[in-house]
Amino acid sequence: MNQAIKKYAVDKTSLDKTSLDKTNWLDLSTGINPNGWPVPTIPASVYNRLPENDDGLIEAARAYYQTKNILPVSGSQAAIQLLPVIFQQHDLLPKNAKVGIISPCYAEHEFQWQKNNFSILHLTTETVDDIIEQLDVLLLINPNNPTGERIAVNTIKAWQSKLSQHNGYLIIDEAFMDSTPENSILGKCPMDNLIVLRSVGKFFGLAGVRCGFVIARRDILSLLEYHQGPWSVSGPTRWLVKKALSDTQWIADNKGYLKNASGRLETLLKKYLSKNNRQIFICGTVLYKTIFMQSALPVFEQLAKKGVLVRLLDKSCSCKSCTAQYKTIDDQHKGLRFGLPADEKQWQQLEIVLQSIRQPFPSI
Ligand SMILES: Cc1ncc(COP(=O)(O)O)c(C=O)c1O
Repeated sequence: MNQAIKKYAVDKTSLDKTSLDKTNWLDLSTGINPNGWPVPTIPASVYNRLPENDDGLIEAARAYYQTKNILPVSGSQAAIQLLPVIFQQHDLLPKNAKVGIISPCYAEHEFQWQKNNFSILHLTTETVDDIIEQLDVLLLINPNNPTGERIAVNTIKAWQSKLSQHNGYLIIDEAFMDSTPENSILGKCPMDNLIVLRSVGKFFGLAGVRCGFVIARRDILSLLEYHQGPWSVSGPTRWLVKKALSDTQWIADNKGYLKNASGRLETLLKKYLSKNNRQIFICGTVLYKTIFMQSALPVFEQLAKKGVLVRLLDKSCSCKSCTAQYKTIDDQHKGLRFGLPADEKQWQQLEIVLQSIRQPFPSI
């Protein structure tokens, strides 16, 4: 819980009539599927043995991700932490290497590269071409969290080819790609200088099992494996994820469920957060919707006072469609990201709270 929320959780006088305890919070602050893959009972023997590499997880992952060289990791976060370390320690990049990150995005990427003393350049999809010859690493999230911006396969292929001309690398975090696998870069490019991260935390709603995958050149996977150490993905997790990735019926049904739920969320947000007949601009993916608006902070505070926790984003979006809409807005422009309610009761709770929101400033 961040500081702003803590304040409201403790200061009961600032709450509306119904006092909120921990269980009353409607937590929409993540992009995790609230109705994830239904976890079955795990056989006791799976707990009793050390994890084994020949348990069928790799085959299931190869089939699901349509790729060959793949390494399970304890959440894609583990790879986000390890990649700068292996690039640093194994001389894969020149000294003072430059890492370009399409921003805003999931902040852990920048944090981990900075921690390992790399220079960071903040880019947008429009500025990549101006600087790509000077980049040693280009890092992007596709589709982006929090903006939902999608970068076309052809654009990515062109960047990969430019980077390969001077031994540069392309890292693509596809943590939110599962509902649109046709947009994935996997299987469409040689893996020479390409590293792709996938997560089972989002679409499958299995964030707690800590499992993700890295798809890359064999030697890069070996270095990650070396730094990760043995048994880093637990036996019960491997058993569950193998089953989840192979559950084609659930995967198809879930795509439909998420599409409907995200449409419903978008309609609700437009209905209650548009101001003075001005439509708000909503971006995102099927797992979250993001609104950039001047009154983001007061709206965030009002939601929190009424027990709805959303993600407050402190940077405005710099993608083409957002800047086209918001070019007159000052730097204080912030965003709110809403995850999906889990059930009808939560949808009603959200709607009641949204109805009561007062926006002190014009929305754009
Ligand atoms: C874009 C993105 N990538 C990766 C992660 C890490 O996810 P996990 O470690 O659960 O796979 C997150 C977590 O929120 C994320 O937003």
